[in-house]
Parts: sequence; C-alpha cells; structure tokens
Amino acid sequence: MISPNTIQQILSRIDIIEIVGSFVKLKKRGANYLGLCPFHNEKTPSFTVSPAKEIYKCFGCGRSGNSISFLMEHEKYSYVESLRWLAAKYNVEIEETATSPEFKQQLLVADSLFIINGFAQQFFSDALFSTEEGQSHALSYLKERGFREDIIKKFQLGYNPEGRDSFTRAALDAQYNLEYLQKSGLVTTRDGNSYDNYRGRIIFPIHNQSGKILGFGARIIRNNDKAPKYINTPENEIYVKSKILYGAYFARLAIDKSDECLLVEGYTDVLSLHQAGIENVVASGGTSLTPDQLRLIKKYTNNLTIIYDGDPAGVKAALRGLDLALEESLNVKLVLIPDNEDPDSYVHKVGAAAFTEFVEFAKKDFILFQLEIALRETGNDSSKKAAVVNQVAETISKINKAEDFTRQQDYIKQCAALLKIGEDGLHALVNKFIREKITKEETRSFRDEQRNTEQESGLPGTKQDTEVLALLNRDEMFEQAMIRSLLEFGMLDWEGEKKVADYIFREIDENQLEELIDNPELVKVLHTYKGWYDAGLEPSAKNFLYHDDLQMSALVVGIMDFNYELSHKWPEHFEGHIATREELYREEVFSTLNYLKLRKLKRMMDENQGDLEKATVAEDQLVLVQTHQHLKKMEIELTRQLGTVIFR
Ligand code: UTP
Ligand code: MN
Repeated sequence: MISPNTIQQILSRIDIIEIVGSFVKLKKRGANYLGLCPFHNEKTPSFTVSPAKEIYKCFGCGRSGNSISFLMEHEKYSYVESLRWLAAKYNVEIEETATSPEFKQQLLVADSLFIINGFAQQFFSDALFSTEEGQSHALSYLKERGFREDIIKKFQLGYNPEGRDSFTRAALDAQYNLEYLQKSGLVTTRDGNSYDNYRGRIIFPIHNQSGKILGFGARIIRNNDKAPKYINTPENEIYVKSKILYGAYFARLAIDKSDECLLVEGYTDVLSLHQAGIENVVASGGTSLTPDQLRLIKKYTNNLTIIYDGDPAGVKAALRGLDLALEESLNVKLVLIPDNEDPDSYVHKVGAAAFTEFVEFAKKDFILFQLEIALRETGNDSSKKAAVVNQVAETISKINKAEDFTRQQDYIKQCAALLKIGEDGLHALVNKFIREKITKEETRSFRDEQRNTEQESGLPGTKQDTEVLALLNRDEMFEQAMIRSLLEFGMLDWEGEKKVADYIFREIDENQLEELIDNPELVKVLHTYKGWYDAGLEPSAKNFLYHDDLQMSALVVGIMDFNYELSHKWPEHFEGHIATREELYREEVFSTLNYLKLRKLKRMMDENQGDLEKATVAEDQLVLVQTHQHLKKMEIELTRQLGTVIFR
C-alpha cells in the first residue's frame, strides 16, 4: 500500500487541467476548460473540466470524475496504478506501507529493470561514441547509412562491443543483480558463464511514454544468415511487446499537431523520417498492429496512415489487424513504398520534400485498397468473387458507429461500383453482418448495460422535474443539497465560535441519520465527514474526491457536479434572491437541512395518520391526535421559517 503521507503529497500536487490535458486537447472557456470527450465520439466539445472543483464532466455521455478516476477510465489503470502514475509525474517519492509480498516483488523487479536499462543505455552510448571499437565499427556504420549525430543522440542509440562480456562485467561490477540482468535480456548465462547477449550490435533503446527505457532492439552490423538481424528484449515485467510503439515518446507532440500518426515497420524508418523532419511517426516493430497499440494511437489522433514496403509481405502486414482500427473509428490510409524500398531507404533516396509529397499522393483509403488487391487476385472466378463481396461487406460492417454512418454509406456506394454489384444488395449484406455481430455481443453488452445502470444510480443525476412537491418524497436532490452545503460550507462560520458543521451536527442526531436521509451512501458520507471532523481535520469535498472508497468518491463528484440545478432554483423559491450561493450560505445550509426535517415530519404525520385510522381504543386515538397536532405545529413553524408556500 502507498502510505497516506505519500497520497497526501500526490493529491496536493494534482492539477486536473494538466492531467486531463495530456490526453485531451482543452480550451479555456470562462472558469472551465472544454474539449472533445475522450469517452465517446463527438464533433462538438461537451467535455468540461473544472480546475476549481478538480472534476470533469461530459455533458454528452454523462461521464464525470476526478483526476484519478480519469486515469482509471482513460488509461485503464487501477486506483493504485493511477497514484503511481501521478507520483512519477510529480516526482513524489512513494513511501510504501505493508503490501502483499508478491506485489512488492513485482514492483521491485520493474524498478530494477528500469534502473538496469538506464545503466545499460549509458554504457552502450559511451561504447558507441567514446571507444575506438564503437567509433570504427558502429558509429561509422550508422554514418554510412546517413544518420546524423543529433538523431543518433536524440534516440540514444548505442553499441554493445564484440567482447564476450564487457557489458556484463561492468554491470556486475556496479553491483547489479545477475538474475535481473538476465531478465532484462542483456545478459545470457550458459554453463555457469554469463556474457553479453547483444555483442557486436547497434542498440536501439525503446522508450515508454515518459521516456524511461523499457527494453532494446539490437541490430547486427553486417547482415549475416546465421544470426537474426534484430534481437529484442524478451517479455518481462516492463517490456510487453504488444503494448510497444517504437518512437511514440518522440512523436507525441508532432502527432498532436498534425492530427495524424504515420506508422512504419522498423526502428530505422522512424529515425530516418525524424531526420527528414517528419516526426509524427511510430513503428510497430514488424508485426501486425495489436489492439493495445491501436488504443495508444487513438489517444493521440483518429488519423492513421500506414506506410509499409510495397512487397507482398508488407501489404499483408499492413492489412492485418485493420478491422480493429475500423471498429475504433480510426481513419486508416495506406501508403506503399515502391521499388523494394522501405521508408528509411526511400526518404534517403528522394529527400524529405519529395517523400512527403509522395505520401500525400500515394495515400489510399484502406478499404478500397483492400478491395482492389482482392479483385486483382480473383479475376473472373465468380465463386472467388462471392468471397470477396462477403469480405468487403464484413469489413464495412465494422464501421458501425452512429457518427460514421455517412462514411459507411460512402463505402457501400464505392465498393458496389468496384465490384459491379447493386448497392442495395451490398447494403443488405452489410446489415446482415451488423446484425450477426449484435447478436454475438448481446449478452456482453447486456451485462455492461446492467453495470452502467448500477453506476448511474450511484451517481445521482440531475432531474428536470419541475414539480418540487412531487420530488419531495422520492428524490435525492434534497439529501444531496444538504450534503453539498455541508461539504462546501462546513468550515465557514455559523455563529460565534461555531462552524456550519457544528450547527448541522447539532441539528441532526448522528444515530438517526437514516431517518433523515434515505440513501445509505449519503449517510456514509456524513459519518465519514463527522469522523474526520471529530478527529480535528477540516474535511472538504476534496477529501472525498480522492477517497479510495470509489463509490463514495463518485457520489461526491456527482454531488459537486457542474449542474447545480437546485442552486438555480433556490432564488425563485426564496423570495427572489439573486445572490450567489456563497453569499447565501447560511440560508442554504438552513434551508437544505429544514427541507429534510420537514420531509421527515411529513412522513411521521403520514404514519401517524395511518395509525389513527387503525386505532380502536379511545386512549390511543387521543395520543395519536395529540401527536398529530404537535407535528402539525412543527410543520407550520418549519414551513414558516422556510418562507415558502410550496407545501400548502
Ligand atoms: P526490417 O527487416 O524491415 O528492418 O524489419 P529495418 O527496420 O528496415 O532495419 P534496417 O533498415 O534493415 O536496418 C522491420 C522491423 O521488424 C523487426 C524490427 O523491429 C525491425 O525494425 N525485426 C526485424 C525484428 O524484430 N527482428 C528481425 O530479425 C527483423
Ligand atoms: Mn530498412
């Protein structure tokens, strides 16, 4: 567990604009910031972030939360992973309290691997630039290939010398643990002897989003049939191949700026394009794109342009995994590099300007391209053509988000023309695939839906009901309003030495909260608040916002929401005051509390009435009538104080 002290430090540094802003483009709008919602597709921004309240809310899809829930939703981090991410971002050193030994071990390994990789990168860079062997073997090779020194340095390339164990010895001398060195893939042990795994190779460090080194690609210098061209880091605690996009660390800003991500296959392609000033480029590492990689790209842009070798293998590699991209609503374009070149060699050959021009000119729509290739293969074979029609229909069926409708219709038109078949027929076929997919996913989405409804009920919405009286007995608005006034104004002065919180807790009996407030979660918030307050803390909404009881945190986010409709209603109901809530906080505290008391009173009266109707003994009847009169008097008094006539 991360210690409370560390959490406190992290929370005190959180800047929600900075955090959300690293994933969503935000523009300032008054006191808030506005952007396109990352959780659903939209064309006009309805995703709002409030730096003052430290929360976000999308008015399109309704999602809301704080910095931590944002990281959890958007990055799919756990609560603890989010804290770690924030700690790393704000340079807060993490102090651990007791954790499970396995987890601790895993963290330890990951940390050690990062440290070893950092050490190794330094070692390899030194070997490349500052040793005779590095300069004459490796640096000269890189320069021969046309790589400039600034690019070599920027990407932190290095060289692992030929000697059996020069790195291994340096690492062991520096007290690095052999087991971790093996895990990192840098060192191999055979027959009790340990030696360098990448000897005689150029080293390409692979960086994560924050520039730390996850692993390496190691290229042989002179191609040779016996050894693989590249050796890559084996899967370990930090190197997970399916999640790696080489160059992403250096490409982020450029992708953002150009709103396009170029995808190439190899390390050297990334380097050469950078060198040519084309920086919005990442590499997949020669395998087909994985869903994780697509998700990463989608975080930056919706426009993916794949630039692969024009050979059949390149084409195949480019086409694989692209259905996934369509489902993610990515616009996929394809560029094939001619004449057995790859982007690296081609940009060297023709230069930066011509390369860019070529990419623009040769960019093909992925679906139409796929169809052209398939048609080329089928010729006049009508049974093969049927298969192509099916395949195209299935592909088009993946473009199925509401906002992609026009795109889908466009594809149907163009593909039908290419296939020389009727549009209606293709349309019907596409729909068949959509239906099939829906059936398949029905159970899953049903489950999701159920979960969502549950979440929604935990996060109370803002009801538009105008009939306040009708709301009184069933709606949570009043309960929320009271809690909100406590959270917001609790530490302000009430009377003399007393704070608002003192007043509220004097007025309501902590042991009878359940009678005043229906929602047990809200009762919990009150208990928690009281607990903190009694312990001498100054509770605020922020304490709840980042509480590790996520349900409670979500609830408080909901309460502190932007849509504070009730607050707009107060002025109307209360004799037309148009003052702000802050100015009226005493009135608000008083009113919200009295509303609840009044509701409780009404319920007691109803109950009393019921008993009265059932009572047969005169004595009982008398007591009940007296009770009724007493309650009625209290009601009149409360209503008078509230200064409203809505309960008549
Ligand atoms: P390429 O064979 O196209 O290499 O493999 P390259 O990147 O163009 O390198 P140069 O220009 O010949 O120096 C493309 C990518 O596939 C992965 C690497 O990520 C490489 O960059 N690959 C290739 C391997 O992982 N292992 C291999 O043996 C070969
Ligand atoms: Mn190459």
